[in-house]
Amino acid sequence: MRTLRTVAELREALTPERRAGRTIAFVPTMGAFHEGHLSLMRAARQRADVVVVSLFVNPAQFNPDEDLSAYPRDEEGDARQAEAQGVDILFAPTTSEVYPTGSPTTEVRVHGLTEPLEGVSRGPAHFHGVTTVVAKLFNMVRPDVAFFGAKDAQQAAVVRAMVRDLDFGIEIGTLPTVRERDGLAMSSRNAYLRGADRENAIALRKALDAAEAAVRDGERDPATVARSARDAMRPYSVEPEYLALVEPTTFAPLAAIDGDVLVAVAARVGPARLIDNTLIRKNGRH
Ligand code: PAJ
Repeated sequence: MRTLRTVAELREALTPERRAGRTIAFVPTMGAFHEGHLSLMRAARQRADVVVVSLFVNPAQFNPDEDLSAYPRDEEGDARQAEAQGVDILFAPTTSEVYPTGSPTTEVRVHGLTEPLEGVSRGPAHFHGVTTVVAKLFNMVRPDVAFFGAKDAQQAAVVRAMVRDLDFGIEIGTLPTVRERDGLAMSSRNAYLRGADRENAIALRKALDAAEAAVRDGERDPATVARSARDAMRPYSVEPEYLALVEPTTFAPLAAIDGDVLVAVAARVGPARLIDNTLIRKNGRH
């Protein structure tokens, strides 16, 4: 595996591969790898000839009140883990390589989908930061296929919308959420959890379990399902920032449950802001 720092080096490495007809799979990340990231790398390895992983903590997607400097970083450990998954190129540019003029003067914004849920909590600017950097990374790597995790369901939907609207011609794969043994969704931010906070973090998964159980038992009123889900968080003293049942592709709120439904939850647990979700299919759990 090679670690590359500049767009010029990346192009130099990838142009001959593309010319030789080799396919390129891409996994964008912000590092501090866990099994969730590694599952995307393995899927990429299976799917294409050349696997590129980017490691870039993107300042443009952090709010001023979010602590960008505290975001976990471990490039050496990340490089070892990526290499073990058979990654060919780790692209780890500096901030000035990605944003040579400081903050970008051109932005990519997806309308609509960026407004509910995370768009309310963190503001749509978070997603504008994501789509701008992902668009740039797509243009740098020019992959055939890129992989995202279902844990960030709204992000995956926003990226799909961008790819469709701007005709990127890149296939987007979304892979299932990888969890700890107790059900906590893996996240780089779990590194912030200590002691009782780590135990209480399971509240999010418990809420999703309760929602799934209510729907399976035939409940069709989203407010009632949401109430059982919230109740399931109370023993852990975790109050959701949002807990919503939405239509899985538009993220519009549901008036009734008569098809697939995405249950999405966000909560602060100690110092960490956590998110999780589950897709409940009309014909059985998924
Ligand atoms: P990051 O949080 O590092 O996540 C990189 C990818 O890993 C995302 O597609 C995310 O959904 C996926 N992922 C995270 N936790 C996962 C889990 N438990 N199971 C499966 N997949 C998981 O998301 C970002 O970085 C950034 O916003 C990025 C897309 C790189 C743009 O800066």
